[in-house]
Amino acid sequence: MKNILVTGGAGYIGSHTVVEMLNMNMNVVIVDNLRNSKEEALRRIEKITGIKPTFYKVDLLDRSALASVFRAEKFDAVVHFAGLKAVGESTQIPLSYYQNNVTGTLNLCELMIKHSVRNLVFSSSATVYGDPHKTPIKESFPRSATNPYGRTKLMIEEILQDLYDSDNAWNISLLRYFNPIGAHPSGMIGEDPNDIPNNLVPFISQVAIGKLNKLAVFGADYPTHDGTGVRDYIHVVDLAKGHIKALQKLSENPGIQAFNLGTGRGYSVLDIVSTFERVNKVKIPYETAGRRPGDIAVCYADASKAEKELGWRAELPLEDMCADTWRWQLQNPNGYE
Ligand code: NAD
Ligand code: WQD
Repeated sequence: MKNILVTGGAGYIGSHTVVEMLNMNMNVVIVDNLRNSKEEALRRIEKITGIKPTFYKVDLLDRSALASVFRAEKFDAVVHFAGLKAVGESTQIPLSYYQNNVTGTLNLCELMIKHSVRNLVFSSSATVYGDPHKTPIKESFPRSATNPYGRTKLMIEEILQDLYDSDNAWNISLLRYFNPIGAHPSGMIGEDPNDIPNNLVPFISQVAIGKLNKLAVFGADYPTHDGTGVRDYIHVVDLAKGHIKALQKLSENPGIQAFNLGTGRGYSVLDIVSTFERVNKVKIPYETAGRRPGDIAVCYADASKAEKELGWRAELPLEDMCADTWRWQLQNPNGYE
């Protein structure tokens, strides 16, 4: 797998994955409409790697523009990150989420068929497990969705299964990410939320730098060791490397397979706060608030399938996730602006 189309390659996880791909001498073509990212991320990728990836500012919903990309370039595989990802927003504008995520994927797959590209790595999510009946979560657990965003992921997984059933020449990796955090150790690329962050670690980071006053801890009455929600936080660089392994696996013609990408370890909200404080020598003021609707108590992966079949495991500890987040925040107090 040498020539790779990366949709959403200017975004948070996409930019880190492109860096790892360029480090592996892959030829990368990025398609992104920059709806939730900045072109500056692409310049930073070049600074880190010394290589400028080819970039098309194209929306997956624009079929003719996407078709021109497929006519102009040759691909062995596609890594498909492009999508909208904010759970709360998806309940406000569900049709945009279905349109963007589902129709965008349909357009992409139609062109892949037309150009005989049948290797795909798809960004799925632990959200497809809904509220799991137990932990750690295995790939075989039942899937469900509790919000429109999650439903788009579930629908796309099913669409891709149908596609594979219709033509076994496809090789598809459904990567179910747990909670990606952290940033590249250079501090040059990282997560750059447009608005007030919805997710825990970007929020903590903005409290630490003084942009936000204090963290609201959503619920301290969960059945966990300290009452706060437990998640499987994974360093974005480890996650990025998982995509390289998934691409390598596709060349063995594995068919369609799902993989959990997590560390297999759960940390509570207060564990994250105290580790961030200790590692970065900062104070994170917080107060306990009510539970956030739709949140579950505990979510962490059984990531042994990825280890066994992809030869991948997360290596970087929570300390690095916190230190790298903080370095990115300090070096880029206003993100890419
Ligand atoms: P992101 O928003 O930073 O990156 C997504 C990129 O896709 C952005 O650059 C955006 O501009 C682009 N994009 C969106 N719609 C597009 C379209 N129609 N055409 C072209 N480009 C489009 O998000 P991320 O955190 O990097 O997530 C990447 C993928 O991983 C998403 O599919 C997301 O649902 C999934 N995922 C993310 C998380 C997470 O916590 N960050 C967890 C699980 C799964
Ligand atoms: C983590 C923990 C919160 C913010 C979401 C999506 C999921 C996936 C990853 C894409 C929870 C608590 C948070 C705050 C808090 N994305 N929290 N105060 O909810 O596990 O997952 O992102 O696929 O689909 O749902 O991540 O970072 O929002 O929350 O106390 O201000 O932090 O309650 O326990 P979550 P998160």
